[in-house]
Amino acid sequence: ASVAALDGRVPATHKVADRHAAVPRPTLGAFENTPDTDPSVEANRQAASRILQRAATSQLGVESVQASVIRDETTLRAVISSTKEAGKAWGKLSANYRATVLHKVGDEMERRRADFLEVMAAEAGKTIDQADPEVSEAIDFAHYYAELALELDTIDGAEFTPSNLTLITPPWNFPVAIPAGGALAALAAGSAAILKPAALTARCGALIAECMWEAGVPADTLRLLQVGERQLGTQLVSDPNVDRVILTGAYETAELFRSFRHDLPLLAETSGKNAIIVTPSADLDLAVKDVVSSAFGHAGQKCSAASLVVLVGSVARSHRFRTQLLDAVSSLTVDYPTNPATQMGPIIEPAAGKLLEGLTQLGAGERWLIEPTQLDATGKLWSPGVRDGVARGSEYHRTEYFGPILGIMTASTLTDAVDIVNEVDYGLTSGLHALDPEEIDLWLNTVQAGNLYVNRGITGAIVRRQPFGGWKKSAVGAGTKAGGPNYLIGLGSWVSAPARQ
Ligand code: SER
Repeated sequence: ASVAALDGRVPATHKVADRHAAVPRPTLGAFENTPDTDPSVEANRQAASRILQRAATSQLGVESVQASVIRDETTLRAVISSTKEAGKAWGKLSANYRATVLHKVGDEMERRRADFLEVMAAEAGKTIDQADPEVSEAIDFAHYYAELALELDTIDGAEFTPSNLTLITPPWNFPVAIPAGGALAALAAGSAAILKPAALTARCGALIAECMWEAGVPADTLRLLQVGERQLGTQLVSDPNVDRVILTGAYETAELFRSFRHDLPLLAETSGKNAIIVTPSADLDLAVKDVVSSAFGHAGQKCSAASLVVLVGSVARSHRFRTQLLDAVSSLTVDYPTNPATQMGPIIEPAAGKLLEGLTQLGAGERWLIEPTQLDATGKLWSPGVRDGVARGSEYHRTEYFGPILGIMTASTLTDAVDIVNEVDYGLTSGLHALDPEEIDLWLNTVQAGNLYVNRGITGAIVRRQPFGGWKKSAVGAGTKAGGPNYLIGLGSWVSAPARQ
Protein backbone atom coordinates (compact mmCIF):
# COMPACT_ATOMS: atom_id res chain seq x y z
CA ALA A 1 0.00 0.00 0.00
CA SER A 2 2.28 2.74 -1.20
CA VAL A 3 -0.59 5.07 -1.93
CA ALA A 4 -1.77 7.12 1.01
CA ALA A 5 -3.45 10.49 0.94
CA LEU A 6 -3.50 12.57 4.04
CA ASP A 7 -5.73 15.46 4.91
CA GLY A 8 -3.45 18.37 5.77
CA ARG A 9 -3.46 20.19 9.04
CA VAL A 10 -5.25 23.49 9.36
CA PRO A 11 -3.14 26.02 11.24
CA ALA A 12 -4.68 27.72 14.24
CA THR A 13 -5.08 31.02 12.41
CA HIS A 14 -7.31 29.40 9.85
CA LYS A 15 -9.57 27.52 12.19
CA VAL A 16 -13.09 28.82 12.57
CA ALA A 17 -13.50 31.28 15.43
CA ASP A 18 -13.21 29.94 18.95
CA ARG A 19 -16.88 29.68 19.63
CA HIS A 20 -17.16 27.47 16.57
CA ALA A 21 -14.34 25.32 17.86
CA ALA A 22 -16.49 24.53 20.89
CA VAL A 23 -19.00 22.92 18.56
CA PRO A 24 -18.44 19.18 18.33
CA ARG A 25 -17.64 17.99 14.80
CA PRO A 26 -20.61 16.36 13.21
CA THR A 27 -20.34 12.63 12.77
CA LEU A 28 -20.71 11.32 9.27
CA GLY A 29 -24.02 10.01 8.03
CA ALA A 30 -24.58 7.64 5.15
CA PHE A 31 -22.30 8.75 2.33
CA GLU A 32 -20.40 6.98 -0.40
CA ASN A 33 -18.37 8.58 -3.16
CA THR A 34 -19.94 8.53 -6.61
CA PRO A 35 -18.10 6.32 -9.08
CA ASP A 36 -16.61 7.81 -12.25
CA THR A 37 -17.51 6.43 -15.65
CA ASP A 38 -15.42 3.33 -16.38
CA PRO A 39 -13.42 3.96 -19.57
CA SER A 40 -12.53 0.28 -19.90
CA VAL A 41 -16.15 -0.40 -20.94
CA GLU A 42 -16.44 -0.14 -24.74
CA ALA A 43 -19.95 1.37 -24.60
CA ASN A 44 -18.64 4.14 -22.35
CA ARG A 45 -15.85 4.95 -24.79
CA GLN A 46 -18.34 5.13 -27.64
CA ALA A 47 -20.59 7.38 -25.58
CA ALA A 48 -17.59 9.61 -24.82
CA SER A 49 -16.80 9.96 -28.47
CA ARG A 50 -20.40 10.98 -29.25
CA ILE A 51 -20.25 13.54 -26.44
CA LEU A 52 -17.06 15.01 -27.88
CA GLN A 53 -18.61 15.25 -31.36
CA ARG A 54 -21.57 17.15 -29.92
CA ALA A 55 -19.19 19.47 -28.03
CA ALA A 56 -18.06 21.04 -31.31
CA THR A 57 -21.48 22.65 -31.85
CA SER A 58 -22.92 22.48 -28.36
CA GLN A 59 -25.58 24.99 -27.38
CA LEU A 60 -26.49 23.54 -23.98
CA GLY A 61 -26.95 26.14 -21.27
CA VAL A 62 -26.89 29.11 -23.66
CA GLU A 63 -30.49 30.12 -22.99
CA SER A 64 -30.13 30.00 -19.20
CA VAL A 65 -27.00 32.14 -19.40
CA GLN A 66 -28.70 34.73 -21.58
CA ALA A 67 -31.63 34.92 -19.16
CA SER A 68 -29.25 35.47 -16.24
CA VAL A 69 -27.42 38.58 -17.45
CA ILE A 70 -28.02 41.68 -15.30
CA ARG A 71 -27.39 44.99 -17.05
CA ASP A 72 -28.23 47.71 -14.55
CA GLU A 73 -27.86 48.60 -10.90
CA THR A 74 -31.54 48.75 -10.06
CA THR A 75 -32.19 45.25 -11.33
CA LEU A 76 -29.13 43.94 -9.50
CA ARG A 77 -30.28 45.47 -6.21
CA ALA A 78 -33.75 44.02 -6.65
CA VAL A 79 -32.37 40.56 -7.39
CA ILE A 80 -30.12 40.66 -4.34
CA SER A 81 -32.90 41.69 -2.00
CA SER A 82 -35.48 39.23 -3.36
CA THR A 83 -32.95 36.39 -3.15
CA LYS A 84 -32.26 37.38 0.43
CA GLU A 85 -35.98 37.19 1.24
CA ALA A 86 -36.17 33.78 -0.40
CA GLY A 87 -33.20 32.73 1.74
CA LYS A 88 -35.09 33.59 4.91
CA ALA A 89 -37.88 31.21 3.87
CA TRP A 90 -35.44 28.49 2.75
CA GLY A 91 -33.60 28.64 6.08
CA LYS A 92 -36.85 28.01 7.94
CA LEU A 93 -37.48 24.74 6.11
CA SER A 94 -36.39 21.62 7.96
CA ALA A 95 -32.89 20.32 7.37
CA ASN A 96 -34.55 17.10 6.34
CA TYR A 97 -36.42 18.84 3.54
CA ARG A 98 -33.31 20.64 2.33
CA ALA A 99 -31.33 17.40 2.42
CA THR A 100 -33.98 15.60 0.37
CA VAL A 101 -33.83 18.32 -2.28
CA LEU A 102 -30.02 18.21 -2.30
CA HIS A 103 -30.00 14.46 -2.83
CA LYS A 104 -32.31 15.04 -5.80
CA VAL A 105 -29.85 17.62 -7.16
CA GLY A 106 -27.13 14.96 -6.98
CA ASP A 107 -29.35 12.51 -8.85
CA GLU A 108 -30.19 15.11 -11.49
CA MET A 109 -26.51 15.94 -12.03
CA GLU A 110 -25.83 12.22 -12.49
CA ARG A 111 -28.68 12.03 -15.01
CA ARG A 112 -27.13 14.93 -16.95
CA ARG A 113 -23.52 13.76 -16.65
CA ALA A 114 -23.13 13.57 -20.44
CA ASP A 115 -24.43 17.13 -20.82
CA PHE A 116 -21.87 18.36 -18.31
CA LEU A 117 -19.06 16.58 -20.15
CA GLU A 118 -20.19 18.10 -23.44
CA VAL A 119 -20.19 21.67 -22.11
CA MET A 120 -16.95 21.21 -20.15
CA ALA A 121 -15.22 20.17 -23.37
CA ALA A 122 -16.84 22.98 -25.34
CA GLU A 123 -16.23 25.83 -22.89
CA ALA A 124 -13.19 24.81 -20.87
CA GLY A 125 -11.33 22.45 -23.24
CA LYS A 126 -11.58 19.68 -20.65
CA THR A 127 -10.78 16.16 -21.70
CA ILE A 128 -13.21 13.45 -20.57
CA ASP A 129 -10.69 11.90 -18.18
CA GLN A 130 -10.44 15.26 -16.37
CA ALA A 131 -14.10 16.22 -16.64
CA ASP A 132 -15.77 12.98 -15.59
CA PRO A 133 -14.25 12.85 -12.06
CA GLU A 134 -15.14 16.51 -11.68
CA VAL A 135 -18.82 15.72 -12.31
CA SER A 136 -18.54 12.92 -9.74
CA GLU A 137 -17.11 15.42 -7.28
CA ALA A 138 -20.03 17.81 -7.83
CA ILE A 139 -22.47 14.94 -7.22
CA ASP A 140 -20.51 13.98 -4.10
CA PHE A 141 -20.89 17.53 -2.79
CA ALA A 142 -24.69 17.26 -3.16
CA HIS A 143 -25.01 14.00 -1.23
CA TYR A 144 -22.32 14.80 1.32
CA TYR A 145 -23.57 18.27 2.22
CA ALA A 146 -27.11 16.87 2.40
CA GLU A 147 -25.88 14.51 5.12
CA LEU A 148 -23.99 17.28 6.90
CA ALA A 149 -27.11 19.48 6.84
CA LEU A 150 -28.97 16.86 8.87
CA GLU A 151 -26.21 16.80 11.42
CA LEU A 152 -26.13 20.58 11.84
CA ASP A 153 -29.47 20.25 13.62
CA THR A 154 -28.22 17.66 16.06
CA ILE A 155 -25.11 19.34 17.42
CA ASP A 156 -25.71 19.55 21.16
CA GLY A 157 -25.35 22.71 23.14
CA ALA A 158 -25.35 25.10 20.22
CA GLU A 159 -27.83 26.44 17.77
CA PHE A 160 -26.98 27.14 14.16
CA THR A 161 -28.44 30.23 12.51
CA PRO A 162 -28.18 30.14 8.72
CA SER A 163 -27.03 33.10 6.69
CA ASN A 164 -29.75 34.34 4.37
CA LEU A 165 -27.71 35.06 1.28
CA THR A 166 -24.43 33.59 0.09
CA LEU A 167 -22.67 34.71 -3.07
CA ILE A 168 -20.58 32.12 -4.90
CA THR A 169 -17.88 33.39 -7.26
CA PRO A 170 -16.08 30.35 -8.67
CA PRO A 171 -13.24 30.09 -11.20
CA TRP A 172 -13.33 28.63 -14.72
CA ASN A 173 -10.81 25.83 -14.16
CA PHE A 174 -13.18 23.51 -12.26
CA PRO A 175 -16.34 24.91 -13.83
CA VAL A 176 -18.67 22.28 -12.38
CA ALA A 177 -17.36 20.98 -9.05
CA ILE A 178 -16.38 24.32 -7.54
CA PRO A 179 -19.54 26.34 -8.38
CA ALA A 180 -21.77 23.37 -7.53
CA GLY A 181 -19.90 22.75 -4.27
CA GLY A 182 -20.24 26.34 -3.09
CA ALA A 183 -23.91 26.66 -4.00
CA LEU A 184 -24.79 23.26 -2.54
CA ALA A 185 -23.01 24.06 0.72
CA ALA A 186 -24.89 27.35 1.04
CA LEU A 187 -28.24 25.68 0.31
CA ALA A 188 -27.49 22.82 2.70
CA ALA A 189 -26.69 25.34 5.44
CA GLY A 190 -30.06 27.05 4.90
CA SER A 191 -28.96 30.03 2.84
CA ALA A 192 -30.12 31.24 -0.55
CA ALA A 193 -27.34 31.31 -3.12
CA ILE A 194 -26.41 33.66 -5.92
CA LEU A 195 -24.19 31.71 -8.28
CA LYS A 196 -22.09 33.91 -10.51
CA PRO A 197 -20.11 31.50 -12.67
CA ALA A 198 -16.87 32.65 -14.29
CA ALA A 199 -17.79 34.33 -17.59
CA LEU A 200 -15.60 31.88 -19.55
CA THR A 201 -17.56 28.90 -18.24
CA ALA A 202 -21.00 30.40 -17.68
CA ARG A 203 -22.79 27.54 -19.45
CA CYS A 204 -21.36 24.98 -17.03
CA GLY A 205 -22.81 27.17 -14.27
CA ALA A 206 -26.13 27.27 -16.09
CA LEU A 207 -26.30 23.47 -16.20
CA ILE A 208 -25.73 23.34 -12.45
CA ALA A 209 -28.56 25.82 -11.89
CA GLU A 210 -30.87 23.86 -14.20
CA CYS A 211 -30.21 20.70 -12.17
CA MET A 212 -30.97 22.53 -8.94
CA TRP A 213 -34.22 24.04 -10.21
CA GLU A 214 -35.30 20.70 -11.68
CA ALA A 215 -34.68 19.03 -8.32
CA GLY A 216 -36.91 21.51 -6.48
CA VAL A 217 -34.65 24.35 -5.37
CA PRO A 218 -36.87 27.41 -5.96
CA ALA A 219 -35.66 29.72 -8.74
CA ASP A 220 -35.54 32.67 -6.34
CA THR A 221 -33.44 30.70 -3.83
CA LEU A 222 -30.77 29.64 -6.28
CA ARG A 223 -30.10 32.49 -8.69
CA LEU A 224 -27.87 32.17 -11.67
CA LEU A 225 -26.38 35.54 -12.42
CA GLN A 226 -23.98 37.17 -14.84
CA VAL A 227 -23.17 40.85 -14.72
CA GLY A 228 -22.93 42.79 -17.96
CA GLU A 229 -20.28 45.17 -16.63
CA ARG A 230 -17.42 44.95 -14.21
CA GLN A 231 -18.73 47.75 -12.06
CA LEU A 232 -21.90 45.73 -11.42
CA GLY A 233 -19.68 42.88 -10.18
CA THR A 234 -18.13 45.29 -7.68
CA GLN A 235 -21.58 46.34 -6.57
CA LEU A 236 -22.63 42.72 -6.14
CA VAL A 237 -19.70 41.89 -3.86
CA SER A 238 -20.10 45.15 -1.93
CA ASP A 239 -23.84 44.88 -1.29
CA PRO A 240 -24.43 44.67 2.48
CA ASN A 241 -27.34 42.30 1.85
CA VAL A 242 -24.82 39.65 0.87
CA ASP A 243 -24.06 37.81 4.11
CA ARG A 244 -21.12 35.76 2.92
CA VAL A 245 -18.99 35.25 -0.19
CA ILE A 246 -17.47 31.94 -1.18
CA LEU A 247 -14.62 32.71 -3.56
CA THR A 248 -12.21 30.41 -5.32
CA GLY A 249 -9.67 32.36 -7.31
CA ALA A 250 -6.43 34.30 -7.17
CA TYR A 251 -5.18 35.71 -3.87
CA GLU A 252 -5.32 39.16 -5.47
CA THR A 253 -9.04 38.71 -6.17
CA ALA A 254 -9.67 38.00 -2.47
CA GLU A 255 -7.77 41.18 -1.61
CA LEU A 256 -9.77 43.10 -4.20
CA PHE A 257 -13.05 41.84 -2.70
CA ARG A 258 -11.88 42.94 0.73
CA SER A 259 -11.01 46.36 -0.66
CA PHE A 260 -14.62 46.72 -1.84
CA ARG A 261 -15.92 45.84 1.59
CA HIS A 262 -13.46 45.44 4.45
CA ASP A 263 -15.86 43.56 6.76
CA LEU A 264 -16.88 41.12 4.04
CA PRO A 265 -17.35 37.61 5.48
CA LEU A 266 -15.22 35.79 2.98
CA LEU A 267 -14.43 32.15 2.59
CA ALA A 268 -11.75 32.04 -0.05
CA GLU A 269 -9.57 29.32 -1.46
CA THR A 270 -6.85 31.18 -3.33
CA SER A 271 -3.62 30.64 -5.27
CA GLY A 272 -1.03 27.88 -5.01
CA LYS A 273 2.58 27.19 -5.95
CA ASN A 274 2.75 23.51 -5.24
CA ALA A 275 5.67 21.13 -5.21
CA ILE A 276 6.30 17.42 -5.14
CA ILE A 277 9.48 16.30 -3.37
CA VAL A 278 11.12 13.09 -4.61
CA THR A 279 13.68 11.42 -2.33
CA PRO A 280 16.09 8.54 -3.07
CA SER A 281 13.75 6.11 -1.24
CA ALA A 282 10.90 6.84 -3.70
CA ASP A 283 9.43 4.49 -6.27
CA LEU A 284 10.68 6.62 -9.17
CA ASP A 285 8.33 5.11 -11.76
CA LEU A 286 5.35 6.05 -9.62
CA ALA A 287 6.86 9.47 -8.87
CA VAL A 288 7.25 10.30 -12.56
CA LYS A 289 3.67 9.24 -13.32
CA ASP A 290 2.27 11.35 -10.45
CA VAL A 291 4.43 14.38 -11.23
CA VAL A 292 3.30 14.32 -14.88
CA SER A 293 -0.41 13.98 -14.07
CA SER A 294 -0.22 16.64 -11.33
CA ALA A 295 1.68 19.10 -13.51
CA PHE A 296 -0.07 18.65 -16.85
CA GLY A 297 -3.62 17.44 -16.11
CA HIS A 298 -5.97 20.09 -17.55
CA ALA A 299 -2.82 21.74 -18.94
CA GLY A 300 -1.68 22.67 -15.44
CA GLN A 301 -4.65 25.00 -14.93
CA LYS A 302 -5.37 23.93 -11.37
CA CYS A 303 -4.66 25.76 -8.13
CA SER A 304 -3.63 22.32 -6.87
CA ALA A 305 -1.26 21.55 -9.78
CA ALA A 306 2.40 20.63 -9.32
CA SER A 307 4.44 23.53 -10.60
CA LEU A 308 7.70 22.35 -9.01
CA VAL A 309 9.40 19.05 -8.44
CA VAL A 310 12.20 19.09 -5.88
CA LEU A 311 14.70 16.27 -6.37
CA VAL A 312 16.69 15.23 -3.32
CA GLY A 313 20.25 13.88 -3.09
CA SER A 314 21.05 11.09 -5.55
CA VAL A 315 17.76 11.63 -7.45
CA ALA A 316 18.96 15.15 -8.20
CA ARG A 317 22.45 14.03 -9.20
CA SER A 318 21.55 11.08 -11.45
CA HIS A 319 19.94 11.27 -14.89
CA ARG A 320 17.33 8.63 -14.26
CA PHE A 321 14.42 10.75 -13.01
CA ARG A 322 15.00 13.48 -15.59
CA THR A 323 15.26 10.96 -18.44
CA GLN A 324 12.03 9.22 -17.45
CA LEU A 325 10.30 12.57 -16.98
CA LEU A 326 11.48 13.71 -20.41
CA ASP A 327 10.16 10.52 -22.02
CA ALA A 328 6.83 10.72 -20.24
CA VAL A 329 6.20 14.40 -20.90
CA SER A 330 7.29 14.36 -24.52
CA SER A 331 5.01 11.39 -25.23
CA LEU A 332 1.85 13.24 -24.12
CA THR A 333 -0.69 13.73 -26.92
CA VAL A 334 -1.55 17.43 -26.95
CA ASP A 335 -4.66 18.42 -28.87
CA TYR A 336 -8.21 19.68 -28.42
CA PRO A 337 -10.55 17.47 -26.39
CA THR A 338 -12.63 16.67 -29.48
CA ASN A 339 -9.80 14.25 -30.34
CA PRO A 340 -10.46 11.31 -27.99
CA ALA A 341 -6.71 10.51 -27.90
CA THR A 342 -5.89 13.87 -26.31
CA GLN A 343 -4.04 13.63 -23.01
CA MET A 344 -3.40 17.32 -22.55
CA GLY A 345 -5.85 19.87 -23.91
CA PRO A 346 -5.59 23.60 -24.56
CA ILE A 347 -5.29 26.45 -22.11
CA ILE A 348 -8.55 28.35 -21.84
CA GLU A 349 -7.43 31.63 -23.38
CA PRO A 350 -4.48 32.54 -25.62
CA ALA A 351 -1.33 32.61 -23.48
CA ALA A 352 -0.63 36.13 -22.26
CA GLY A 353 1.02 38.00 -19.41
CA LYS A 354 2.72 35.92 -16.74
CA LEU A 355 1.83 32.60 -18.34
CA LEU A 356 3.27 33.62 -21.71
CA GLU A 357 6.47 34.69 -19.95
CA GLY A 358 6.62 31.35 -18.19
CA LEU A 359 6.19 29.52 -21.48
CA THR A 360 8.82 31.52 -23.34
CA GLN A 361 11.40 32.96 -20.95
CA LEU A 362 13.98 31.38 -18.69
CA GLY A 363 15.39 32.80 -15.47
CA ALA A 364 19.10 32.94 -14.61
CA GLY A 365 20.68 29.48 -14.57
CA GLU A 366 17.59 27.76 -16.01
CA ARG A 367 17.46 25.63 -19.14
CA TRP A 368 14.67 23.82 -20.91
CA LEU A 369 14.58 20.08 -20.38
CA ILE A 370 11.58 20.29 -22.71
CA GLU A 371 10.82 23.60 -24.34
CA PRO A 372 7.14 24.46 -24.70
CA THR A 373 5.95 25.20 -28.23
CA GLN A 374 2.89 27.00 -29.47
CA LEU A 375 1.16 24.40 -31.62
CA ASP A 376 -1.37 26.46 -33.56
CA ALA A 377 -2.41 30.00 -34.35
CA THR A 378 -5.01 30.23 -31.57
CA GLY A 379 -2.35 30.76 -28.88
CA LYS A 380 -4.23 28.21 -26.74
CA LEU A 381 -2.54 24.97 -27.70
CA TRP A 382 0.92 24.59 -26.17
CA SER A 383 3.08 21.55 -25.68
CA PRO A 384 4.15 21.08 -22.06
CA GLY A 385 7.37 22.64 -20.78
CA VAL A 386 9.87 21.48 -18.19
CA ARG A 387 12.59 23.88 -17.00
CA ASP A 388 15.59 22.60 -15.09
CA GLY A 389 17.90 24.50 -12.77
CA VAL A 390 15.25 26.66 -11.07
CA ALA A 391 17.09 28.67 -8.41
CA ARG A 392 15.95 29.13 -4.85
CA GLY A 393 14.18 32.45 -4.42
CA SER A 394 13.85 32.99 -8.18
CA GLU A 395 10.76 34.31 -9.91
CA TYR A 396 9.78 30.83 -11.08
CA HIS A 397 10.21 29.38 -7.58
CA ARG A 398 7.67 31.79 -6.11
CA THR A 399 5.15 32.57 -8.83
CA GLU A 400 1.95 30.81 -9.81
CA TYR A 401 1.75 30.44 -13.62
CA PHE A 402 -1.43 28.40 -14.02
CA GLY A 403 -0.42 26.56 -17.18
CA PRO A 404 1.54 23.61 -18.56
CA ILE A 405 4.98 24.35 -17.08
CA LEU A 406 6.94 22.40 -14.51
CA GLY A 407 10.20 23.50 -12.88
CA ILE A 408 12.90 21.24 -11.45
CA MET A 409 14.73 22.25 -8.28
CA THR A 410 17.30 20.27 -6.33
CA ALA A 411 18.13 19.87 -2.65
CA SER A 412 20.83 17.99 -0.81
CA THR A 413 18.54 16.72 1.96
CA LEU A 414 14.84 16.33 2.60
CA THR A 415 15.02 19.09 5.21
CA ASP A 416 16.44 21.47 2.59
CA ALA A 417 13.71 20.42 0.16
CA VAL A 418 11.02 21.20 2.74
CA ASP A 419 12.61 24.63 3.33
CA ILE A 420 12.43 25.27 -0.41
CA VAL A 421 8.73 24.34 -0.42
CA ASN A 422 7.96 26.41 2.67
CA GLU A 423 9.70 29.50 1.29
CA VAL A 424 6.82 30.26 -1.06
CA ASP A 425 3.97 32.44 0.16
CA TYR A 426 1.28 29.90 -0.67
CA GLY A 427 0.49 26.55 0.91
CA LEU A 428 -2.27 24.74 -0.93
CA THR A 429 -1.23 21.22 -1.91
CA SER A 430 2.07 19.47 -1.40
CA GLY A 431 3.41 16.05 -2.30
CA LEU A 432 6.09 13.66 -1.16
CA HIS A 433 7.34 10.62 -2.97
CA ALA A 434 9.31 8.52 -0.47
CA LEU A 435 8.96 5.02 0.88
CA ASP A 436 10.98 5.61 4.04
CA PRO A 437 8.58 6.09 7.00
CA GLU A 438 10.98 8.43 8.79
CA GLU A 439 11.13 10.69 5.76
CA ILE A 440 7.35 10.66 5.55
CA ASP A 441 7.07 11.64 9.23
CA LEU A 442 9.63 14.41 8.90
CA TRP A 443 7.83 15.85 5.90
CA LEU A 444 4.36 15.60 7.44
CA ASN A 445 5.57 17.44 10.53
CA THR A 446 7.31 20.28 8.76
CA VAL A 447 5.77 21.06 5.40
CA GLN A 448 3.33 23.97 5.25
CA ALA A 449 0.33 23.20 3.06
CA GLY A 450 -3.37 22.53 3.48
CA ASN A 451 -3.52 19.27 1.56
CA LEU A 452 -0.69 16.77 1.87
CA TYR A 453 -0.34 13.76 -0.38
CA VAL A 454 2.14 10.92 0.08
CA ASN A 455 2.98 8.72 -2.92
CA ARG A 456 0.01 10.05 -4.90
CA GLY A 457 -0.61 12.91 -7.32
CA ILE A 458 -1.42 16.23 -5.66
CA THR A 459 -4.60 17.15 -7.57
CA GLY A 460 -8.06 15.67 -7.46
CA ALA A 461 -9.05 15.82 -3.79
CA ILE A 462 -11.98 13.52 -3.05
CA VAL A 463 -15.00 14.71 -1.07
CA ARG A 464 -14.93 13.52 2.56
CA ARG A 465 -11.69 11.57 2.08
CA GLN A 466 -9.51 14.60 1.34
CA PRO A 467 -11.25 17.79 2.44
CA PHE A 468 -9.73 20.59 0.37
CA GLY A 469 -8.32 23.91 1.52
CA GLY A 470 -5.16 25.92 1.90
CA TRP A 471 -2.79 27.49 4.34
CA LYS A 472 -0.84 30.78 4.21
CA LYS A 473 -1.78 32.88 1.15
CA SER A 474 -3.77 29.96 -0.29
CA ALA A 475 -6.70 30.75 2.00
CA VAL A 476 -8.34 33.99 3.01
CA GLY A 477 -11.05 34.21 5.65
CA ALA A 478 -12.52 31.27 7.51
CA GLY A 479 -10.43 28.43 6.17
CA THR A 480 -12.72 25.45 6.70
CA LYS A 481 -12.14 22.86 4.04
CA ALA A 482 -14.53 22.17 1.16
CA GLY A 483 -15.80 18.60 1.12
CA GLY A 484 -14.93 18.19 4.80
CA PRO A 485 -17.00 17.83 7.97
CA ASN A 486 -16.57 21.44 9.12
CA TYR A 487 -17.52 23.23 5.92
CA LEU A 488 -21.16 23.94 6.74
CA ILE A 489 -20.26 24.95 10.30
CA GLY A 490 -18.45 27.96 8.87
CA LEU A 491 -21.44 29.04 6.77
CA GLY A 492 -23.75 30.42 9.43
CA SER A 493 -23.53 31.78 12.92
CA TRP A 494 -23.74 29.97 16.23
CA VAL A 495 -25.44 30.76 19.49
CA SER A 496 -25.38 28.60 22.57
CA ALA A 497 -28.63 26.85 23.29
CA PRO A 498 -30.23 27.48 26.68
CA ALA A 499 -28.90 25.10 29.31
CA ARG A 500 -30.97 21.92 29.45
CA GLN A 501 -32.95 21.16 32.59
N1 SER B 1 -10.10 20.37 -5.54
C1 SER B 1 -9.24 20.44 -6.69
C2 SER B 1 -8.15 19.47 -6.61
O1 SER B 1 -7.98 18.83 -5.62
C3 SER B 1 -8.69 21.81 -6.87
O2 SER B 1 -9.63 22.80 -6.78
O3 SER B 1 -7.43 19.32 -7.56
